[in-house]
Amino acid sequence: MIRVAIDGPAGVGKSSTSKALAKHFGYAYLDTGAMYRAAAWWCLHEGIDLDAATPDEDAIVTAVGALFVDGHLEMGLDPQNPTVSCDGLDISADIRSAEVSSHVSVVSGIPAVRHLLIAAQRAYIDGEADPESFSHGSGIVAEGRDITTVVAPDAEVRVLMTARPEVRQARRNSQAAAGADDVAKRDKADSKVTSFLEAADGVVTVDNSDIDFQQTLDILINLVDTAI
Ligand code: C5P
Repeated sequence: MIRVAIDGPAGVGKSSTSKALAKHFGYAYLDTGAMYRAAAWWCLHEGIDLDAATPDEDAIVTAVGALFVDGHLEMGLDPQNPTVSCDGLDISADIRSAEVSSHVSVVSGIPAVRHLLIAAQRAYIDGEADPESFSHGSGIVAEGRDITTVVAPDAEVRVLMTARPEVRQARRNSQAAAGADDVAKRDKADSKVTSFLEAADGVVTVDNSDIDFQQTLDILINLVDTAI
């Protein structure tokens, strides 16, 4: 089984590139950011005040625990149609709202939340979790912020995608489906918790500021080809 771990900041093109890479090789695809977004969406849905000066961490951890441990959340791992559902309801679009984007770092910054999500992510990556719609025979591409370093540091292929901040903000602004998203603000908050701005030992950096989608994808395809 080939595990491909891809990290990087917001707006770098991780999701589109990771999906295309998984599709190319017939691998499963796991969007770990979507899991943190689902956690934040659930907290908002449960009425937890994430704008409070000191949000109620116990309430957040309890809510997220119920979401993940009780199996309400299901990740669909098909890169052609990666869904996120909660109790059978498709929440893939809801978790991309501006409200979720601006609150997700509050939730993802809590160590006990990360602990829960990392365990859930490893279960998907190791093929132990029962994915909703896709079984990964030969490999999986997992993308996020701490996949190369914490979630799957022993992955066969480990990549850090980077691009200049202004390029990333412009890309995010051009995504019609995404709500308003201040990527610099989110990266600043996120980088206090996980380090994804510099490559760890053994991680290949791919800066795509000045290359297009296909060129980025070709580099990644090459890296996987070399590993299999
Ligand atoms: O990848 P995406 O931008 O959708 O991630 C949403 C948020 O989830 C990030 O801003 C970050 O707070 C959190 N995240 C994380 N660790 C990951 C993936 C995402 O903390 N592995």
